[in-house]
Amino acid sequence: MPETILVFDSGLGGNTVLREIVKLRPGARYIYVADDAYFPYGQHSEAEIVTRVVPLIGQLIGAHDPKLTVIACNTASTLVMDHLRKAYQVPFVGTVPAIKPACASSKTKRVSVLGTKGTVQREYTKKLIADFAQGCDVKLIGAENLAALAEASLKGEPISDRDILEEIAPCFTDGDARTDTVVLACTHYPLLLDRFVELAPWPVNWIDPAPAIARRVNDLLGTPASIEPQSARIVFTSGQVPSAALVKALAPFFGASHIA
Ligand code: DGL
Repeated sequence: MPETILVFDSGLGGNTVLREIVKLRPGARYIYVADDAYFPYGQHSEAEIVTRVVPLIGQLIGAHDPKLTVIACNTASTLVMDHLRKAYQVPFVGTVPAIKPACASSKTKRVSVLGTKGTVQREYTKKLIADFAQGCDVKLIGAENLAALAEASLKGEPISDRDILEEIAPCFTDGDARTDTVVLACTHYPLLLDRFVELAPWPVNWIDPAPAIARRVNDLLGTPASIEPQSARIVFTSGQVPSAALVKALAPFFGASHIA
């Protein structure tokens, strides 16, 4: 039996994490769940997210019996990981802002964290800065619509430079020292990375933790039983059935696995 890996996000951004896991474990059976009925998480209160996500993950574990579950969402992971680990036996891997590696690599000691409004307000995120800033000045930028813009772009809708620039511009601090590192603290944002690079007022190092998350998943699961691609599923909590166009847009994230 191939192992099942459940990858969960509020929407389609978690595919940027799934893509890296698939590279390391092409033979797993992937179930990708987008809680689109509750998207975007960035606009919900902390209590609402805990109340929504903890029982929902329990239902998904019951339905799909995963060997491991990835919470591919910073807005949720910065709140729910302890609750999930207490409630369920399955191993979990979360996604939290990559503040430590960003600060370790910044030369100018000016780092920005670009996340949802929820993620940048979390105590969890503030503690990461307190523990790992390593002398850097860390600026928190809460984006209003960037996750929704990333989803629209993935679906092939045109997104204006101006809309993207409005969200990313506050990351860039000039003056005695310039920002040289920006943490992509929302799994949706790597979907727009090419646009960010193009629109940035100067080049910076964009930190996407997805490859590190994939390595963690791979370490926890050990040697895979098979590397034979399996069929994969995309589930929307709204009950929406993915259109052929969306399946086509998402197919590259799943490697050789076939989205059924
Ligand atoms: N993908 C989610 C994250 O990593 C957030 C998007 C949302 O606001 O739902 O934070």
